[in-house]
Amino acid sequence: MSKRRLGMILLLLMFVPFCVAMLTLVSPSFEAWQARQPVKLTSWLNPAPLSRGHRMFGDRCSTCHQKAFRAVTDDACTTCHTQTLTHVAYSDRLGARHVDIHCVDCHAMHSVKEAMTEMRSVPCVECHEKNGRQLAENRDFGKAHATFRLAFIRGDKTLHVREDQSPLPLEQSHLKFSHEVHMKQDGVSSPEGQTVLDCVNCHQLEESGRRFATPTMTGTCQQSGCHALRFDRPLSGVVPHGTAREVTDRTRNAYANWLADNSADAGLACGWKTSRTVTHRQLLDCAERVSGEYLNNTLFKQRGDDLGCALCHELVATNMKDVPLTIAPILVQHHWHESAQFPHDMHKSAKCTDCHNKTSSKSASDVSIPGLAKCRECHVGQQGYTEKVSSGCADCHNYHRVKKDRKSNGLGEYG
Ligand code: HEC
Ligand code: HEC
Ligand code: HEC
Ligand code: HEC
Ligand code: HEC
Ligand code: HEC
Ligand code: HEC
Ligand code: HEC
Ligand code: HEC
Repeated sequence: MSKRRLGMILLLLMFVPFCVAMLTLVSPSFEAWQARQPVKLTSWLNPAPLSRGHRMFGDRCSTCHQKAFRAVTDDACTTCHTQTLTHVAYSDRLGARHVDIHCVDCHAMHSVKEAMTEMRSVPCVECHEKNGRQLAENRDFGKAHATFRLAFIRGDKTLHVREDQSPLPLEQSHLKFSHEVHMKQDGVSSPEGQTVLDCVNCHQLEESGRRFATPTMTGTCQQSGCHALRFDRPLSGVVPHGTAREVTDRTRNAYANWLADNSADAGLACGWKTSRTVTHRQLLDCAERVSGEYLNNTLFKQRGDDLGCALCHELVATNMKDVPLTIAPILVQHHWHESAQFPHDMHKSAKCTDCHNKTSSKSASDVSIPGLAKCRECHVGQQGYTEKVSSGCADCHNYHRVKKDRKSNGLGEYG
């Protein structure tokens, strides 16, 4: 080996400790000094540019490298990332069988990749193996993964049931609806004529692109002039889609005006002699009684044909005299797979009916969420496959709080 080459090698070898020594100098005051210099010394030490979210820290290396010769600690990250949640809600359970795992085991900081959410090989299975057999059975989506659990809303609780349980429980959204009636091939009759409906007439993706918004009365049911809320005996009118109280008040006022303007009708409806002079209070009382009776037979009718609210809603009795019936709260599930995510916008090439057998569903309580076998038609695990979509655990699951709490996070925000 020539002296020159040896010299170069020695120089390089010295350069490494030099660099490490430099890191000890990297302190906020050094960085403040450096910021005024034309050449940034720390940029020589930088193994690769910082990922996108952190580039704004530029040459302030001490933001993370708080101590020289020490690995960057989790504390350095959590001083800024205060909202980052633990993997499972009960963090002590994780702690008890804790596997020594740190933020940087999964998040590459100096990375040529654009985003830090591009993971390093994520040690999901390794840790699950130490946390119980059932968890460890999920090791490869294509070959070893549990059948899915579906989350049924039961008031403010959730019932978890395997997709293959037969029969499945019913969805209790308190909405009444038949897909079959609306999906007839020759369409449904509407004021605008026979209208053939498509799934997306009623199901619109939320802005996130992941899930669908609940179809609404005004935006969905009343399209094409369908489903007006009328009352028509003996007085006719239309009520807006509001609460039971708003509807009651609106009709009562309409009846009061009608009675005030038509003394003959008022006499008949209220059982007064036509010659009698009535006070405003008496008129209102009568309007309340009469409208209450009519409402019970029209908009708030509970059984039979020509239903009002009960066409779509379950009605529940209240203990209020002026509003005896109200609407059961709507609890449509938007997140059947609580601990995983499903982006609808990435599956646009498949037909809705490939995954949801809905055209012959007669009741809103039917559930038609596809299972593991359906996903495996396209998705497989990460290694040893060629022709299908290779998917790692973190493609479908969150890590930070894998299962979000419905109450504290709100239904729509998950994933
Ligand atoms: C956002 C936090 C953060 C900032 C800012 C940061 N680093 Fe790092 N750096 C890390 C972490 C974490 C590691 C541990 C290795 C890894 O996971 O990438 C690391 C590793 C390194 C290494 C070891 C090489 C390696 O790949 O293991 C060097 C050298 C280094 N950083 C230099 C710098 C310099 C110079 C700067 C300033 C220009 C800087 N770092 C800014 C977080 C940071
Ligand atoms: C000085 C504050 C600060 C420190 C220290 C810091 N970060 Fe960040 N981090 C940010 C900011 C600001 C962003 C970009 C905005 C955002 O997405 O929250 C970011 C983005 C990220 C992202 C990407 C988020 C996304 O949506 O793309 C990850 C992952 C991340 N940081 C992890 C870490 C880890 C791991 C460490 C410790 C090695 C760390 N951060 C240290 C402030 C910090
Ligand atoms: C440090 C250990 C550890 C690591 C790393 C880890 N997990 Fe977990 N995981 C657990 C523990 C503990 C549970 C809780 C088991 C329980 O509730 O009984 C769990 C539960 C889960 C569950 C089931 C949650 C539920 O609804 O019951 C999923 C899904 C999951 N992990 C996915 C992942 C994915 C994806 C990764 C990698 C990105 C990962 N885990 C990495 C320890 C870990
Ligand atoms: C043709 C179907 C249909 C009819 C008839 C109907 N609604 Fe609704 N209603 C819906 C739908 C769909 C929703 C959920 C989305 C929304 O808010 O529009 C809803 C929601 C509501 C809500 C909000 C409930 C909650 O928990 O968020 C109230 C209150 C309500 N309706 C009252 C009424 C009343 C009172 C009537 C009768 C006068 C009525 N609705 C008739 C379809 C209907
Ligand atoms: C590749 C299969 C697949 C296709 C294609 C698909 N879905 Fe889904 N859909 C799912 C899965 C899985 C869920 C459950 C995800 C969850 O709730 O976490 C779901 C949930 C739903 C839900 C209930 C949850 C919510 O977001 O409100 C509706 C409504 C829905 N899909 C409608 C549609 C419509 C309309 C189409 C066509 C435009 C469609 N889906 C296409 C798989 C599919
Ligand atoms: C006329 C409006 C309308 C049309 C058209 C319609 N839906 Fe729905 N869909 C609803 C309403 C309202 C709900 C909520 C009540 C319920 O759970 O049934 C719903 C619920 C769903 C759900 C969630 C409940 C479940 O089954 O798991 C899926 C999935 C769904 N629809 C898929 C479809 C598909 C696929 C099509 C097309 C073949 C379609 N829908 C057409 C109104 C409609
Ligand atoms: C017809 C084929 C097909 C079916 C069936 C299918 N997927 Fe997908 N899925 C895809 C394709 C293609 C992508 C986009 C992959 C990409 O761009 O990285 C994708 C993307 C995804 C993603 C996003 C991954 C990421 O990188 O962000 C998730 C999560 C997902 N699918 C879950 C599911 C689940 C759960 C099921 C079963 C209910 C399912 N898919 C059924 C083809 C399918
Ligand atoms: C194509 C999407 C997809 C991929 C890839 C995937 N999962 Fe899942 N996983 C799901 C869905 C959907 C569920 C059911 C949702 C639920 O239980 O809330 C689930 C459930 C689980 C559960 C709960 C198991 C149980 O007993 O019910 C664990 C644990 C889990 N996955 C771990 C993993 C691990 C580890 C990997 C990587 C080897 C992985 N998953 C890859 C979609 C996926
Ligand atoms: C076992 C792997 C793993 C570990 C350990 C890990 N993360 Fe993550 N992190 C992920 C994955 C996967 C995502 C992608 C989105 C998600 O799962 O929430 C993510 C997303 C993030 C994000 C962006 C989204 C968000 O939730 O704000 C931040 C910031 C983040 N991680 C910070 C941290 C910090 C800080 C630590 C250490 C306390 C840490 N991570 C430890 C796997 C991990």
